[in-house]
Amino acid sequence: MPNGSLSIRPMELSDFAVRISYFHDADDEYLARLGVDRALLPDPVEWRARFAANLALPSEQRSEYGVVWELDGMLVRFSTADQIQFGAEAHMHLHIVDPERRAAGLGARFVAQTAVHDCDALRLARLYCEPNAFNLAPNRALQRAGFRHVRSRRCRPSPMNTHQTTTIWLYEPGAAAVATAG
Ligand SMILES: CC(C)(COP(=O)(O)OP(=O)(O)OC[C@H]1O[C@@H](n2cnc3c(N)ncnc32)[C@H](O)[C@@H]1OP(=O)(O)O)[C@@H](O)C(=O)NCCC(=O)NCCS
Repeated sequence: MPNGSLSIRPMELSDFAVRISYFHDADDEYLARLGVDRALLPDPVEWRARFAANLALPSEQRSEYGVVWELDGMLVRFSTADQIQFGAEAHMHLHIVDPERRAAGLGARFVAQTAVHDCDALRLARLYCEPNAFNLAPNRALQRAGFRHVRSRRCRPSPMNTHQTTTIWLYEPGAAAVATAG
């Protein structure tokens, strides 16, 4: 478990460069592991403008909700929720920015606390996460965080994704204790 002061807050426009760089500067092997097609990545300028427009909307009307995690003041992780039906359900995506911080015990804790945060902010009864079935780290982290396995399927989980086999995980607040300790 990492030492240091860990905090979560909503993603702001000033954080967005990290998200653009995370995808646009990634190598092909990494994008393939995420099931992301570089050719489908949004143009950075257009993507940022879309994020700004969404951020200006009331919470109930947003199509996307992002959070960032800071460790000792440095942005180490971000997560976005989309396909939002405010008061009902959404889909979560999770990313640790610095490769050296992955597989260090951060993931399950981040996942669990982000699930609690998203469900609270968006008043959710169901929060889904649907990683590539062959990408072991998120599948393990979701299970460890208390998400329930639903099923696998072939689909394109988001517009930047290729067709792939995914695993659907579900968190329902109140249905089970999520692993937020630590
Ligand atoms: C997914 C992610 C957030 C998980 O966080 P993490 O800090 O790496 O995960 P943890 O160190 O807490 O490990 C969680 C579990 O995954 C396993 N794991 C971590 N990295 C792994 C890897 N590269 N290969 C296989 N298993 C791995 C750990 O052994 C642990 O398993 P356990 O519960 O059986 O002990 C992080 O790896 C990440 O950002 N990956 C790149 C982005 C990504 O794949 N996002 C998913 C898109 S939905």
